[in-house]
Amino acid sequence: MKKMLTVRNAGFADAEGVYALIKAYPRELLPRPLSDIVQNVDRFLVCEEKGAIVGTVAWSILPEIGHASSPSVEIKSLAVKKSLRRHGVGSRLVKAAIERVKILRPAQIIVLTFTPDFFRKMGFHEVPKATLMHKLYMGCINCAKYDSPFTCPEVAMAMDLRPSADGA
Ligand SMILES: CC(C)(COP(=O)(O)OP(=O)(O)OC[C@H]1O[C@@H](n2cnc3c(N)ncnc32)[C@H](O)[C@@H]1OP(=O)(O)O)[C@@H](O)C(=O)NCCC(=O)NCCS
Repeated sequence: MKKMLTVRNAGFADAEGVYALIKAYPRELLPRPLSDIVQNVDRFLVCEEKGAIVGTVAWSILPEIGHASSPSVEIKSLAVKKSLRRHGVGSRLVKAAIERVKILRPAQIIVLTFTPDFFRKMGFHEVPKATLMHKLYMGCINCAKYDSPFTCPEVAMAMDLRPSADGA
């Protein structure tokens, strides 16, 4: 049976559902305290099915990568309810987040991920981790799992949004 899924902006009432979804993936996602989700709720989208939050995605702005007029944006905290994976929820959320973020005209959207094949299907390509050093330093300094971002199996990926040199 076809699922009735709605992707929409998150609101405060969604924060606890978002928190639970992210918490369900401690290996894949950085945990986020409820207070962090509430403070940044305007940078979250959710997918709703029959009133329940079954997926979420967020973004953050990285002025340190790029230029003040065209910084990078990171897509993060992407989580789909375990029983609903492979039903198109993740791709709908990422496509909606890309459309939302594009309004800001960043130079690129980046992601650090253990599922590069999923993000390749979304139009991202692998980039050297060294191009994201500031982001890696800030994120990885709090990680207890790996000695260095270069021994961590997370893959750095990007979607370039800069207008091409020929003006296209
Ligand atoms: C990764 C995740 C978001 C994918 O969401 P999803 O709803 O299952 O993905 P979709 O159903 O929209 O899949 C879209 C496409 O990607 C493929 N895909 C999905 N998960 C994949 C994976 N883990 N590896 C490779 N391909 C994958 C699907 O087969 C589908 O391909 P198709 O278009 O050729 O049919 C989900 O599995 C999840 O929440 N994982 C745990 C948290 C996580 O890893 N988040 C990403 C951190 S950056």
